[in-house]
Formats: sequence, structure tokens, C-alpha cells
Amino acid sequence: MIGLDRAIQTKKLNRTGYLNNSYVVRQAQGFQWWNELSSQEKMHLVEQVTALDLKFASELFDNYARKAAQAPKHKLVPPKVKTIPKTISEMENVRIAKQMGECSLRNGEVAVVTVAGGDGTRLGCNGPKGTLPIAPVSGKSIFHLHAEKICAIQQRYHTNIPWYIMTSKTNSLPTQDFFKTHHYFGLNPGQIRFFTQGMLPVLDLNGKLLMNSKSNIVMSPNGHGGLITALKDAGILNDMKIRRIKHVFYHQVDNVLAKIADPVFIGYHLMEDADMSLKVVKKRHHEEKVGIVGCVDGKLQVVEYSELSREDMYAKNGDGSLKYNAGNIAIHMIGIDFIEKACQRREEMLPYHAAIKKVPYIDKHGNMINPEKNNAIKFECFIFDMLKHAEKSVIMEVSREEEFSPVKNREGEDSPDTAVRDMVNVFGKWLHSAGISTPMDCHGNVDGLIEINPSFALDEEALRDKIYNKQLQHDGFLYLE
Ligand code: UD1
Repeated sequence: MIGLDRAIQTKKLNRTGYLNNSYVVRQAQGFQWWNELSSQEKMHLVEQVTALDLKFASELFDNYARKAAQAPKHKLVPPKVKTIPKTISEMENVRIAKQMGECSLRNGEVAVVTVAGGDGTRLGCNGPKGTLPIAPVSGKSIFHLHAEKICAIQQRYHTNIPWYIMTSKTNSLPTQDFFKTHHYFGLNPGQIRFFTQGMLPVLDLNGKLLMNSKSNIVMSPNGHGGLITALKDAGILNDMKIRRIKHVFYHQVDNVLAKIADPVFIGYHLMEDADMSLKVVKKRHHEEKVGIVGCVDGKLQVVEYSELSREDMYAKNGDGSLKYNAGNIAIHMIGIDFIEKACQRREEMLPYHAAIKKVPYIDKHGNMINPEKNNAIKFECFIFDMLKHAEKSVIMEVSREEEFSPVKNREGEDSPDTAVRDMVNVFGKWLHSAGISTPMDCHGNVDGLIEINPSFALDEEALRDKIYNKQLQHDGFLYLE
């Protein structure tokens, strides 16, 4: 076992070539418990330090401090959005887009990428978020629901859809075990590939490393923008090319209503020959925690809720509606060529953002502290920063009720309860359009529990075709599979 100081000196100083010595000395204060550690703990700490790029962490901190001092203001303009179709010609456009998307799916050109590397801190769930049981009747997990949609699309279009799932170092093994235990939810294990995103150290407000035990430096996933490097490093991009994939359908694990590989969205993206496209919904209220889409100097951008000025957050149009109302639901189509470009120009296209958070740590006496105030900085890059480098993009507005219900919080808005309610409401609407009435409560929500398996009906149209004019007993509790 080599001493930690030597590990830092030999491995880090040599690897980065140059390192600000005072920085290392400052960081080294965190390793005062070295002599108390078991050899396993020492080994863990040395491995962590060896993998750390302290120079990079130091640069991130300096950049953060500089940016905070400058606080640039966005000059935003609302973007051009393809709104939910109302007219006959808009409907005709949807029909054409759908045909194009279906053709691409049949040709096996589309892969699904699910980002599931987040910590799920707000939800406070035990284990990866995708393993959360959520289906209204069967209690299937979020991953299971996504898998069933992929399965149903494959069957409908007689195609094969490779599924790439990004995890983090922390949740990679439990995620893979979960899939294995559940026999890959009926999918072919060969079509699913897991890969791990990078991690970055969490710093305190003075730029020092934080530790949450005497042998562990606090680390955090490097944001979903870490996808780009991870795709390349894990050989996924190559795998996609071998499978002749041309477009990626990207979504976040937490949205239970995500219309995975939606042919209309794929078709719009293809029609415009776009590099990167996104779906948006109308914001629920000014302060809803969604990024908004806007243009800055003619370039499309998602401005994250935490970075939106109060003035822009509350800006209104003449008719009183929200000026910046296009809420990002984090569903994208991305061309493989554009992903390659981002791999080559990663630093320019995916800058790091700093988020100030409350992060538990141990103090200099080794006591665990659960801070009441923000005490730490996490650095993340965001996939949507690639948008401003896209030559063409489509912004497609969709119905929140049908396509967006994320599980973010333990309770209240965007919680497991609202996700169940929203799924049941969608299924109730489908049944209604198939001529089957469902009991409603005084808030306009379906009274009861309904679940429709994607293999039974993937969408409203499919359900109508299947059960229209058929007798169906329904007392508010229904499971169709
Ligand atoms: C995110 C978007 C926001 C959007 C909202 C819609 C960001 C920065 N903002 O906000 O614009 O309106 O979703 O729901 O993403 N993830 C990783 N690795 C990471 C970090 C996150 O895979 O390092 C994944 C998570 O597993 C999750 C998703 O990205 O699936 C979103 O992360 P989260 O931190 O929950 O983002 P939000 O703040 O909700």
C-alpha cells in the first residue's frame, strides 16, 4: 500500500503534468484520518484519489467563481414551436410525419437511450429510480413500463430497437441486477446495453473536497451531458454504427408517460433534417421546475429553471399568458452524426454548470453534518446545451396530460401519486374514446385504477381498434394485458 500523499504526488502530479501545489495541500487536509483506516478503506481512498482529476476540479471551481461574479443575463426570445395540431393541414402534416417515423423504425434506424444515472436525491428512493414500483394496478417498475413500450413498438413495426441505458457508478450494478432478476422484461438481453457516466467531486463553497466518511470523498455524476463522452468511451457509438442506427430517441428515466420512439416525433425530426429536436409542454405555472426553451442571439437554448432570471420567469405576453412557456420535457431526437460532432467538440458544446446544494459531510472532527444551508457545489453538463450548436431543430409541443408525468419528489407535485393518477387518466381517456365510460371524481380525475399493457394497446387508436363496440365490464378497476 502506498501512502496517500505519495499516491497524490506520483499518480496525480505525473498524470496531469502540472498541478497547483497549494491546491493539493488544501485538499490533503481531508485525509487526516489515514492512520485510522483499514487497508480496504485506504485502498478505496487511494483509488478515488487516483481517479480524480484535481486540476480539472480546480478549474471548474475557478470558472464557477468567475461566472458567479459576472452573472451574465440571457437576452431571451420565445422560440418557434410546432404547436399541437388543430387544423386539417396540421393533421395532414402529422400523418406524413408519422409515416416517415414509422418507415425509419421499420428500417431499424432508431435506438433508444435512457438516462438513468441521476442520484434521485429529491425522491429519496432506495436504489435506482427506474426500479420504483409505479404501474397503477400491477405495480410494475418504471423500467418495466419503458421496456414494455419498446417491446410493443418492436412488434408493431417488426423491428429491433437497441436500448442503451446510462447509469452512474453508484447505481450501475443495482440497475443491471434488477434487469437480470426480471429477465430483461421479456426483451432480448442482447439488445440492451448498460454504460456508466463519469463522476466529479463535490466541492465545498471554498473549493475544497468534501468527505462523507473518513475514507470517502463525495462524488456526484457529471450530468446527463456526460452521455456524450460515455457513449464514445464505452464503445456504444461504435455499436450503434455497426447496427446502422441513424437516430437516437433520448429520454429521462423518470417520465412514466414518455411516448418512447414516438413515430410522429421521429418523422418531424426527419422531415426537417434536424440535428437535434425536442418535445415541450406548456408550463404549469411560473415557478414550475422545468427548463424553458428560448432563443439567445438566434440560437436555440434550454434555460434551466435554476438559471432563469425572475424577470423572464414572470414575463407575460399582452394576453396575460406566460412569455416563456415552452417547458422542456427532456425528450430528444438526436442524429448520430450530431453526436459524433459533440464527441469531437465536447468542451465547447457541453460546458459545466454549477449547482449549489445541501450535501451531508464530515467535519474536521469526523462528525457527520447534515447542513441546513447550501454548503456544496456539484458540477454537471447538460445534454440540451448541444441545441445551440444544431443547425436545425424541431420543437414539438405535446399534451402534458398525455406525455409528461415525471417522478421527482416523494410527495406533492411530480410524485409517485401524481404519476399513478396521470397514467390512470390517460388510460381513462383512451377508454372513453373507445366508447367506454369511466367514473370520474370531483377533480376531473378517473375514480379508480386502470392499467393497459402496451402489448394490449400501445395508444388510444390501438385500443379503439381492439375494443370498440365490445362489451367491457368496468367498475373503476381494470387491467388489460
Ligand atoms: C430536468 C431538466 C429540465 C427538465 C426536467 C423535465 C436538467 C438539468 N434539467 O430537470 O430542463 O425540464 O428534467 O423533467 O436535466 N441524470 C443522469 N445523470 C446525471 C444527472 C441526471 O442520468 O448526472 C438523469 C436522471 O436520472 C434523470 C434526468 O437525468 O432521469 C433528470 O435529472 P434531474 O436532476 O431530475 O433533472 P431535473 O432537475 O428534474
